[in-house]
Amino acid sequence: MLCGTLWRNARLATMVGAGIGVVEDGMVAAKDGRIVYAGPSPGAVFTAECTVDLGGRWITPGLIDCHTHLIHGGDRAAEFEQRLAGASYEEIARAGGGIVATMRATRAASEAELVESALPRLDALIAEGVTTVEVKSGYGLSTADEAKSLRAARALGMRRDVGVTTTFLGAHALPPEWAGDADGYIAHICDAMLPAIAAEGLADAVDAFCEGIGFSPEQVARLFAAAQRHGLPVKLHAEQLSNLHGARIAAQHGALSADHLEWLDAAGVAAMAASGTIATLLPGAFYVTRETKLPPVDALRAAGVPMAVATDCNPGTSPMTSILLAMNMAATCFRLTVDECLRGVTVNAACALGLQDRIGTLEPGKACDLAIWDIERPAELIYRIGFNPLHQRIRNGR
Ligand code: NIG
Ligand code: FE
Repeated sequence: MLCGTLWRNARLATMVGAGIGVVEDGMVAAKDGRIVYAGPSPGAVFTAECTVDLGGRWITPGLIDCHTHLIHGGDRAAEFEQRLAGASYEEIARAGGGIVATMRATRAASEAELVESALPRLDALIAEGVTTVEVKSGYGLSTADEAKSLRAARALGMRRDVGVTTTFLGAHALPPEWAGDADGYIAHICDAMLPAIAAEGLADAVDAFCEGIGFSPEQVARLFAAAQRHGLPVKLHAEQLSNLHGARIAAQHGALSADHLEWLDAAGVAAMAASGTIATLLPGAFYVTRETKLPPVDALRAAGVPMAVATDCNPGTSPMTSILLAMNMAATCFRLTVDECLRGVTVNAACALGLQDRIGTLEPGKACDLAIWDIERPAELIYRIGFNPLHQRIRNGR
């Protein structure tokens, strides 16, 4: 069979089956941007236009950061200093800082400025082998500013060779013009913002922040019903700072993922298991907020809830642009295994975006998105801190 590129003499972590699907003497063949073979050498007989001998390097699927807030104006370094001096994340938010502070900076920025300021963050992820990134809005909090943010997110995928999926997070915080009327703001999102954003095709999913400083489960349920009327899948920031049972609402709506989950209880785990909702763990936010409550990883594992791991890159709770560090923190703080960390940024992250048919594993038919690593064993990707062993990133076979 004639193929475009053949990578041979490689060790593969295919992510197929349980574990990470190791193939010790493997090869990957690509044609027209897709994988046509990934498995043991010699496998099928290929004639390739280009053959690359990887000298025993490891190939994983291109990494997927399935939860980011890459698009935002400004930064919150001053709030970081306030927190160092003893203020809590919630206190700062209730005093008009936090998400609303970033909202002001985001509203003040043009679409082009939002793109330019996000590119260095995106480039940092790309440099670590990320080939797909999810980007949320949620700092505009008006129709025009949310649409601007989502257009900026889409533009990132045109400025760089990376897959971008966009998530509308209008229900991230209550903007000042709706102070005291969260129900009214949710109705406005359902009746005006979401229809406008859906009509322009700007969002691939809808998310919300279910929390005392965000929105109630009842308000989230109204939003999710509206999202479903527009045919959009849903996700939820749930059980991050307290247990409002948001994961149950997410599960009831067949959410792709529920994210954070430090305060998730047994009933929430069971609901997620029943609905096939992915648990996206965000150890960067856990670390930055100095949370001490651990997500119920043992219970999630026992219930068979697939876990994803992401950076949650945002200016407040997780100013982190390293997916490798997110994996390290997931292992060290949350006790995920090496295999769980790797599945968390590949196959399970693909599921959290509803893209499991297209990316996330090394399998024929999937996009040929690869990360090629200068390592001797996969654990090296997770155990080192601040070291990047990426040899090469391949997207769509190139
Ligand atoms: O994922 N929890 C809500 N949203 C973000 C934080 C946003 C911010 O502080 O700017 C998160 O942690
Ligand atoms: Fe987030």
